[in-house]
Amino acid sequence: MKYPRLVELLSKPENYDSVLVRGWVRTFRANRFIALNDGSTIENLQCVVDFKNTDEKILKKINTGAAIEVSGKLIKSMGKGQSQEVLVEKIEIIGEADPDLYPIQPKKHSFEFLREKAHLRVRTATFSAVMRIRSVLSFAIHQFFQDKGFYYIHTPIITGSDAEGAGEMFRVSVLDPQKPPIDADGSVDFKQDFFGKETNLTVSGQLEAETYALGLGNVYTFGPTFRAENSNTSRHLAEFWMIEPEMAFYDLDDNMDLAEEFIKNILTYVMEKCEKDLIFLDQRLENEDKTKPLIQRSPMRLIQKIKFVIENEFKRVSYSEAIDILKNSKQNKKKKFKYLIQEWGTDLQSEHERYLVEKHFNAPVILYDYPAKIKAFYMRMNEDQKTVRAMDILFPGIGEIVGGSQREERLVFLKKRIQELGIDDEELWWYLDLRRFGSTPHSGFGLGFERLVLFATGMSNIRDVIPYPRTPQNASF
Ligand code: 4AD
Ligand code: MG
Repeated sequence: MKYPRLVELLSKPENYDSVLVRGWVRTFRANRFIALNDGSTIENLQCVVDFKNTDEKILKKINTGAAIEVSGKLIKSMGKGQSQEVLVEKIEIIGEADPDLYPIQPKKHSFEFLREKAHLRVRTATFSAVMRIRSVLSFAIHQFFQDKGFYYIHTPIITGSDAEGAGEMFRVSVLDPQKPPIDADGSVDFKQDFFGKETNLTVSGQLEAETYALGLGNVYTFGPTFRAENSNTSRHLAEFWMIEPEMAFYDLDDNMDLAEEFIKNILTYVMEKCEKDLIFLDQRLENEDKTKPLIQRSPMRLIQKIKFVIENEFKRVSYSEAIDILKNSKQNKKKKFKYLIQEWGTDLQSEHERYLVEKHFNAPVILYDYPAKIKAFYMRMNEDQKTVRAMDILFPGIGEIVGGSQREERLVFLKKRIQELGIDDEELWWYLDLRRFGSTPHSGFGLGFERLVLFATGMSNIRDVIPYPRTPQNASF
């Protein structure tokens, strides 16, 4: 007898005759039909119980959520909905789940409810599909870069610098908040803290990645990043994972080419490897859509949307062109935007990004050459002295999914920007050294992993694509 997982068994049933399987009960119907799932696939295995010859006490314990072991004959199923089933010869209850207490019952639960049961929600079809796709996407990302000869580097999680200069950091300290040491000026004396200075959780591994790109050539990071921005939206997390490639000798066009190829490559991979999960999520979204008013329904289904991104060229548009489009849009003229576009230089809100992607271009858009004053200090200044070599990739239903740039490799320009923005350059001495020794044009970008998983799964809230979301006022589990 073999002990396969369901994904193996259901893909090659001809290899099995008698089977022993273990998993959790999804449903138990008519005292006869168990839908068993072991997490390896979206598909359940139907196990048919001979209730007349089964101990009453055992039958009572076959409840949703219970862990069981079943052995029996694998046969072709006559019933609808499955090709195979097991005629149960022996059943053992490994772990009971009291139906009066177990919260995940075979009925529709809201995602809000399931967030409060985040330790159990992965036992539902939707969350297991999302988390399998998340795993496959992670692997695809490593494979893409490794195949291209990029080296994976681990940038520090505790840092002394603020890579984005936005001041949205979580402090790391061991000082007693009740009575911290005070220095001569009356401020908290961080010299007495664990690291002898102020430290925080990183908002991005970019600055350290740049140092490695200027030694290893092409590198990437893939790790957790932390932002203490108080954005309670469906697209922001306080702890999220970011992929940041950094390439020596790349200009902004090379950077955009790589980002587009990268996204298309990993989405293609997930389409190949996660077909069944995607079909399930596609259907889920379709059902959810049907409950909405016509105007809110999505024009494309999930799989169609992924294919659309893979098959179409991303539109490359300068910030200045985008502002013209937005300024002249009906939406703006009729004052339908919450934030009206009045002049060149304003930052784009997600309503503007989504207008460009979903209404105007109807394609993913790469916006480039942003005004320097709305972007970070490290981006390369253009000849016009007003715009920098930045690029953001905007996605349907998501808005910004990638942010990147060509980096300022000229010491004089970089120092000037740091000074203008009042950034403490002492912390950045090592970053400036890169511009002193063997400096070269280089570029990179950051892809927000959860935003990508949102897109690939058709989920609508970022809290539902990471196992344990961290958001303002919430760090349960
Ligand atoms: O645009 P951002 O801030 O860029 C950087 O951090 C650069 N250092 C990247 C680089 O060039 N190496 O963030 C990059 C991406 C965004 O486009 C978005 O997808 C995601 O990270 N992101 C978030 N995702 C979830 N929650 C948040 N609070 C996020 N903030 C940014
Ligand atoms: Mg950004």
